[in-house]
Amino acid sequence: MNRIVFISLVAFAALVTTAIAGSLTYELPDETADLKPGPGVEAAGVCLACHSADYISTQPSNEGKAFWEAEVQKMIKVYKAPIDPSDAPAIADYLAANY
Ligand code: HEC
Repeated sequence: MNRIVFISLVAFAALVTTAIAGSLTYELPDETADLKPGPGVEAAGVCLACHSADYISTQPSNEGKAFWEAEVQKMIKVYKAPIDPSDAPAIADYLAANY
């Protein structure tokens, strides 16, 4: 008798485990980590070396060129982004035109 109770418990536990494991499958949201296409997007690819494009796309829109120039300089000076200073204007232009 005890053995049957034990086997039932094991079977029940296995069932519950399967049910829980099943409920843990979930859909990932769409990938938003890509930069918008446009002239200069290749140069701006370096911006994804440390963080996703969400850091860029979640900034308030239409901040303008001065904002993005400052942002690029901040990444270079404060966070040591490996960006050639001669690429900075093209990247800022791209960002100002697209974000
Ligand atoms: C060397 C690594 C690195 C690279 C390359 C880099 N960033 Fe960042 N970025 C950071 C770090 C670190 C932060 C701050 C993260 C935090 O506060 O959570 C950051 C934050 C940001 C933010 C959020 C606002 C802010 O000022 O903190 C923006 C926007 C941003 N980066 C844009 C860019 C752009 C545009 C580029 C390309 C020109 C770039 N990043 C390249 C490291 C980098």
